[in-house]
Amino acid sequence: MGDVAKHRELLSKLTREEKASLMSGGSYWQTKPIARLGIPSILLADGPHGLRKQTGGGDHLGVNRSLPATCFPTAATLANSWDADLLERVGSALGAEAAAEGVRVLLGPGLNIKRNPLAGRNFEYFSEDPLLAGTLAASFIRGVQSHGVAASAKHFAVNSQETRRMTIDEIVDERALHEIYLEGFRIAVTAGKPWTVMSSYNRVNGTYANEHRGLLHEILRRRWGFDGLVVTDWGGNNDRVAGLIAGNALEMPAAGGETDREIVRAVAGAALDEAVLDERVAELLELIERTEPAQHAGTLPEGSITAEAAPASAGLHDAHHELAVAAAGRSIVLLENRLRTLPLAPGGPARVAVVGDFAGTPRYQGAGSSLVNPTRIVRPLDALRDSGLHISGYEPGFSRRGSQSRGRARRALRLASEADVILLFLGLDEAAEAEGIDREHMRLADNQLALADELFALGIPVVVVLAGGAPVELPFADQAAAIVHGYLPGQGGGQAIADVLTGRVNPGGKLAESYPVRYADVPSAASYAQAEATAEHRESIYVGYRYFDKVGLPVRYPFGHGLSYTSFEYSDLVATPEHARLTITNTGDVAGSEVVQLYVEAPGLAEHAFRAVRELRGFCRVDLAPGESREVRIPLAEHAFDVFHGTDRDWRRVAGSYTIQAAASSRDIRAAATVEIVAGDRPARDAAASAPTTLSPHYVSGRVELASSDDFAGLIGRPLPSPDWPVGGRLTREHSIAQTRGRGGFAGLLYFAIDRSRAVLLALGRPLQANTTRYALEIPFRSVARMSNGLMTEPMLDGLLLMVNGEFFRGVRKLWSAWRAERAARRAHRNPTDG
Ligand code: BGC
Repeated sequence: MGDVAKHRELLSKLTREEKASLMSGGSYWQTKPIARLGIPSILLADGPHGLRKQTGGGDHLGVNRSLPATCFPTAATLANSWDADLLERVGSALGAEAAAEGVRVLLGPGLNIKRNPLAGRNFEYFSEDPLLAGTLAASFIRGVQSHGVAASAKHFAVNSQETRRMTIDEIVDERALHEIYLEGFRIAVTAGKPWTVMSSYNRVNGTYANEHRGLLHEILRRRWGFDGLVVTDWGGNNDRVAGLIAGNALEMPAAGGETDREIVRAVAGAALDEAVLDERVAELLELIERTEPAQHAGTLPEGSITAEAAPASAGLHDAHHELAVAAAGRSIVLLENRLRTLPLAPGGPARVAVVGDFAGTPRYQGAGSSLVNPTRIVRPLDALRDSGLHISGYEPGFSRRGSQSRGRARRALRLASEADVILLFLGLDEAAEAEGIDREHMRLADNQLALADELFALGIPVVVVLAGGAPVELPFADQAAAIVHGYLPGQGGGQAIADVLTGRVNPGGKLAESYPVRYADVPSAASYAQAEATAEHRESIYVGYRYFDKVGLPVRYPFGHGLSYTSFEYSDLVATPEHARLTITNTGDVAGSEVVQLYVEAPGLAEHAFRAVRELRGFCRVDLAPGESREVRIPLAEHAFDVFHGTDRDWRRVAGSYTIQAAASSRDIRAAATVEIVAGDRPARDAAASAPTTLSPHYVSGRVELASSDDFAGLIGRPLPSPDWPVGGRLTREHSIAQTRGRGGFAGLLYFAIDRSRAVLLALGRPLQANTTRYALEIPFRSVARMSNGLMTEPMLDGLLLMVNGEFFRGVRKLWSAWRAERAARRAHRNPTDG
């Protein structure tokens, strides 16, 4: 809650209108100033893996350009480092660039749980596991804020899909909500202490996250002690007053003053207590105060916009590029290495053919609001040519976005057939994964798979290098001599990949998510992003390895998997309820680093309880010289032995005999020790005590893909809301534009026009712009006016709604007269003395 007492003096000088005006943006990226009282406008900017400070047109889709900035590996990549110190260093570099550019709030980290591999923004998130996600996010936040720049933990909460992200109701049971979806945020907030949190667009169990007092007030502030400011996601405000009451202080971007007037009216009409408004204003004043010193320490006056040619952060770019290369090197995952194919020896006689479009045109980041304009880019191809390897040639081999080109494939085969080793660069293209769009399938493009098959048939060792921010099916995994996964490694990724291939860097990254054999194996596969109105998280706590390990399903690569050019031995494990100690030895002949994971197995192997078999409860990364041994001490997570009790709405320690496992992945347990846990003050009766009495056996067996609507309704303890919007009926402000689909008249035409323009833009080779059309379809009508930056007013929106509801001409008249009224009002405002 805002410290009203601290800011009382300033608050008392502000008029009600001024206070309301502070509660929404003045432009796309800035808040409004109150000059007479010296309250500055502050600048916010994306984002999680690089600064996106726009100097021209503002947008949250990565369409307009931004200042050059260091493009670090995306969160999905950095998570594979399992290296909290690295995350702090990257956060610190981002904070330094932001401070130099007068940016006070950096909109990251993103830490939603990867519920399903097809989620379009998985590349921007850390993990399927909340301990890993929360710990890395906390380090990142500390790094950013060490420069006096606020971080923003986003998107709070349960933003599990992009489809209908602005209207979808994410239905999730209390156990999963707290143990999976909120736990990462809890860790990030309590350990990282972010100065801001961004609420998500979606609803959570019926209420918009931004209006969810349970989430924003009870949990975030009261339980976790958050003392910062909650900002909406861009265009994510629904009911302004409800948002303020729940705990949101800042609506972004500018809403044309419309919602400020709503606030003033609500206070006047007693719908909003002025004391609540004061609290929110105090939160903004506190944010301004916290970020003020960096503005004076930095190179720029607050909020000023620099010319694109010479960003104020330019002096930092060389050092940060080196950090970007190092960060990528620590995050790359060696998935396979048969017969020690890797590393390749520089200077050796082997002829290396480089095949695959991603070597020459790398994919190094995702698309959408996180799109960074990099200061430079190292292509894998160039780094390989400089590496001392004997590169016999390069052929793209296939066209981006799947179109067939026999000529390209033939040329690649010709080159490859004369090589000793083939480096094959495959990946997801720019249109395949992006903010606002969930993927349609988990496969690589057919033309890439076909080329791979032909190359394997040559009988020459093929080393596959993958690019992409989320799992893909790897049907060829057993045929590849080696597989290196670069994920989306940022602007220095090409260098880091060459370093790993040649052994200059010994890979030590491990997967922060499970790699299923096929998409159908994912427990939410059948229903993910299918329904219009709700997203039922029927699988509950069984997300990622918690599901695969519970039901014993084979996976392509388990959570936590990653190889090295050396080997490690685990010994002398000793565990207490607070921590584990063990010795790790590098038993090979090169230096390397090991990510040591601690899992806790529930009593009785959890077979008879609504509980995962094992859960990650601690980890560390240790660097060792050849032959070196080191004892590591890893703390166990705060809720290592607890379940969240659905009825009591609190954590409960479950007494019993637990196994602490030291592991190289969730399926490679190297050492185990037992600890006895006694119940806490308020024990759960048993591991299943948190479950309702109606619990379906599928939640005990883990076969949650079989859970029916009734099973899930039993779990959440109430009837399920309809998964669909009422058929027919009028389109309202709540509907998204996508719901014009299948309707006649202007509505259908609108859908057709937007939908078709995607195909046209794709055909023109403009995937980023094409993606924005899909994004546009997801916007609810209510946000059209709010996000138009004043172009469309609420009365104009009423006209548009008439048009899509079959009253085209009435709607046009309304739109036209509202537009004229707005124009007249603006003129009168500009020339107050006229007329
Ligand atoms: C994204 C946020 C981002 C914001 C501003 C939204 O579309 O969801 O993550 O920070 O835009 O660009």
